[in-house]
Amino acid sequence: MELSSARILLIVGGGIAAYKSLDLVRRLRERGAQTRAVLTPAGAHFVTPLSLAALTGGKVYEDLFSLTDEAEMGHIELSRDADLIVIAPATADLLAKAAHGLAGDLASTLILATDKKILAAPAMNLRMWLAPATQRNVAALSADGMAFIGPNDGSMACGEFGPGRMAEPMEILAAIETALASATSIPLPAGAAKSGALAGRRVVITSGPTHEPIDPVRYIANRSSGKQGNAIARAAAAAGADVTLISGPVALADPPGVAVVHVETALEMLSAVERALPADIFIAAAAVADWRVEAAPDKLKKSGSGPPKLSLVENPDILAAVAARKKQRPTLVVGFAAETRNVIEHAKAKLSRKKCDLIIANDVSPESGVMGGDENEAHLISAAGVENWPRLPKDEVARRLVAALAARLAEMRR
Ligand code: CTP
Repeated sequence: MELSSARILLIVGGGIAAYKSLDLVRRLRERGAQTRAVLTPAGAHFVTPLSLAALTGGKVYEDLFSLTDEAEMGHIELSRDADLIVIAPATADLLAKAAHGLAGDLASTLILATDKKILAAPAMNLRMWLAPATQRNVAALSADGMAFIGPNDGSMACGEFGPGRMAEPMEILAAIETALASATSIPLPAGAAKSGALAGRRVVITSGPTHEPIDPVRYIANRSSGKQGNAIARAAAAAGADVTLISGPVALADPPGVAVVHVETALEMLSAVERALPADIFIAAAAVADWRVEAAPDKLKKSGSGPPKLSLVENPDILAAVAARKKQRPTLVVGFAAETRNVIEHAKAKLSRKKCDLIIANDVSPESGVMGGDENEAHLISAAGVENWPRLPKDEVARRLVAALAARLAEMRR
């Protein structure tokens, strides 16, 4: 379904990010979508019903037990009359209520009673987001079919830094479009066959940096944040794939609905990949250290006779090893090329040297802000040629990649 003809029921929860939901409503309206708003009592501490009413151009629903509201449009009709339910900001409390089927107020009743797809944009303090209870709730809700966008990393209103910031309105808008494209009226029960462009496919992804120990307390690392790999895992899971993400050390929450294997070194990453295969698609998004150190068993001490000499050994190339498999080679093997100059030229050379099917090439020079940032300007390179993508949020790059892979697999089936 197109955004221009969609009816969105927006539930605004209580969080400082609620102000961004006002912008979301404006952008939805600009694109022709109709928005009805539900404001929770906590949400009303951050934005007023009047601003939401002015922006949606309609009534704002706040109370489960309002006689006039129920007479005009009861809560069941509210959800029946929508194509998609969006919760933004989705607070820890709203997610907990939804995960446990509580229905003591209008928002939670709507969430429990709906047969429509739900997209949640979580926003909360990072410790609340990383708390095992919230992560359990998010995993349970994803298994029940709820889609998630964000949260993003960043500095928070509470002064801390980390995951918990609500996704930006434009990112939520893109997620709404994706959710509408795959919207089914009845959410799938947990354990039922998944739907989506990669349903029934297995995807293995490496992500993040590796840490190569020098001695028991020191290591060699790189600046990879793992954001692009995590975003690909989320996008592949949202497309219905069975996803295993093998991640080096990152400061990110595990993506919901994805099996995550945490590793430190390149050798650990290689053996985790071998255990996770076979798969239909292998995506090497990790910034694997090219060399490991012959690590000292004890902490190196200053000896007075100059710095120690580190003896480096080349690490196995995980991407090249998977692409070269004789048995059970994934149908599509995708590599990344992180370059600081002659991006396309080097990436093309990597495509043929590593014998992969596709390369996502990007410029990671410090001026690009790609390493650790939230955006990426990527080029999709295959034997057929180069597709240049504009600078996009990493989530959108991930969705485009997943769509390109699904299209290729579908093409091969024909
Ligand atoms: N890669 C890998 N195992 C390695 C090194 C790299 O799987 N030991 C994968 C990365 O995950 C990425 C691709 O290879 O998908 C390219 O990584 P990159 O660091 O850009 O290239 P290098 O192989 O290091 O080549 P170069 O040194 O020429 O840049």
